[in-house]
Amino acid sequence: MSLDALFKPFEFKSLKLPNRTVMAPMTRSFSPGGVATDEVAAYYRRRAENKVGLIITEGTGVARPASLNDANIPRFHGDKELAAWKKVVDEVHAAGGLIAPQLWHVGSAQGKDKLGKVDSPSGISKAGGEPFTTPMTDADVADTIAAFATAAADAKRLGFDAIELHGAHGYLIDQFFWNGTNIREDHLNGPTIAERSRFAAEILKAVRAAVGPDYPVIIRLSQWKQQDFSVKNAETPQLLEAWLQPLADAGADIFHCSQRRFWEPEFEGSDLNFAGWAKKLTGAPTITVGSVGLSGEFVAAFAGEGSQPASIDGLLERLARDEFDLVGIGRALLQDPEWVVKIRDGRTDELLNYERSALATLY
Ligand SMILES: Cc1cc2nc3c(=O)[nH]c(=O)nc-3n(C[C@H](O)[C@H](O)[C@H](O)COP(=O)(O)O)c2cc1C
Repeated sequence: MSLDALFKPFEFKSLKLPNRTVMAPMTRSFSPGGVATDEVAAYYRRRAENKVGLIITEGTGVARPASLNDANIPRFHGDKELAAWKKVVDEVHAAGGLIAPQLWHVGSAQGKDKLGKVDSPSGISKAGGEPFTTPMTDADVADTIAAFATAAADAKRLGFDAIELHGAHGYLIDQFFWNGTNIREDHLNGPTIAERSRFAAEILKAVRAAVGPDYPVIIRLSQWKQQDFSVKNAETPQLLEAWLQPLADAGADIFHCSQRRFWEPEFEGSDLNFAGWAKKLTGAPTITVGSVGLSGEFVAAFAGEGSQPASIDGLLERLARDEFDLVGIGRALLQDPEWVVKIRDGRTDELLNYERSALATLY
């Protein structure tokens, strides 16, 4: 099977990638006090040295008191935090790589007011859940939008090559998309996904104003939520368009379409996946992700399940058909910084199993 589709360059605005591989954002919690260490910089540099096209960092918290729920996850605000990120950028660039931070706010996904008062649309963490805190006020909403915009401007100033907004997996932005967690009675909710997209659209507009027209802005979305794998923000292609188009209009350039298994069709009657539909409906470039090169999916991996290397032929076929533009790789790259060069050079017998023990180190 030809690897050409995976190893051809990709250009979009100022982003010039040598190939189609993207390191998927993966929280590692190796940044004590929220400051990325030299080991974190070396970890990303190792992937750049081994030809990953674009590195998307682990989720990193914007400037709100409870944007993160673990003090060992790196923050994206504060002088020492940003200086540490500058070191990461410089290391990756020195190795010839490109890097984008994933700007994150966890919202109420993992419960209680731990590191500060939780921000969430309606004070609940899942559909039908009991309110455990008060909903975000207008001032909280405005400050959160501003926090994302400031983080985006800082990313550009530090030399990052793009930014990604984490709008997936049932975290804050997705809590506004999901009618299970957004039961507000203001303009940020309404009967359709288009109204529930307004919070994300406001963030995107503020981000776009902060970084200017040419800077690449990626948004990561998922239909599934960690709170419920079976729900969807958009049940039909028409609703998917109603969800995505306002985001594109507000400044999103690239849709990073998170699935647990990339080969699963998004809607009945077509084998297009989520990234395939997003590209077809909006014309925007898209990133697919989910169990690329591995036999099992990542949520089971958190419970300890290992995975073996799996063929990427199906992926290559879809990529060659231009179903999507880029390919996110998570655990295979967490386990093995050399995954991309091993694939490129046909060293498939050297591909590694994904083992839970990989989470314990930052190699
Ligand atoms: C350890 C770990 C941490 C993750 N952290 C994040 C994160 O911070 N942000 C995010 O959007 N996805 C996160 N994910 C999901 C991955 O980006 C990716 O979508 C998922 O692992 C599926 O890709 P894979 O099957 O290639 O691993 C994480 C996954 C793993 C395994």
